Amino acid sequence: MRFLRAVVAAGCCVASLSAAAQQPAAAPEEAPYKIEGGRVDRGTYNGYRRYGNSCERCHGQDGAGSSFAPSLVQSLKHLTHDQFSEVVINGRQNVTTSQQNVMPPFGQVEDVVLYIEDIYGYLKARSDGALGPGRPQRMANQ
Ligand code: HEC
Repeated sequence: MRFLRAVVAAGCCVASLSAAAQQPAAAPEEAPYKIEGGRVDRGTYNGYRRYGNSCERCHGQDGAGSSFAPSLVQSLKHLTHDQFSEVVINGRQNVTTSQQNVMPPFGQVEDVVLYIEDIYGYLKARSDGALGPGRPQRMANQ
């Protein structure tokens, strides 16, 4: 009986080990921004500008948050790319608080929809700590 259990246990472990070995490692998401020598690519720079036009009045300078909207530098540490896009397109209303906490939907706002990837790239660079606060410098050839 003891012998049988050992075999079963061993079989189980070997099977799960080889299953784990066969599973391809999830490819890490490629960084949605390019920064070289402290300078950003065109998309990231555009994202910075679009963020300033459409999001900053609520989410604060540099994505740092304000008294009524969360820090997107923090949010992008846990939100997926898809979750980010979903909230920006559809908006969100936090109905559980007594305060009005409304994230407006931007699905009809061209200036946001067309450049949502750039905005994401800029905020992700801030969130990853790859880009400091303030107006970024553009790469020379961008
Ligand atoms: C009128 C103010 C306002 C504007 C403008 C605004 N937001 Fe928001 N946003 C909010 C509020 C308030 C919340 C929190 C909603 C909640 O509590 O669920 C929020 C939530 C979010 C979230 C979810 C954060 C999380 O941690 O779940 C994302 C992502 C987001 N906003 C992105 C943006 C982007 C990108 C823009 C510009 C295109 C933008 N927001 C413009 C007020 C705003």
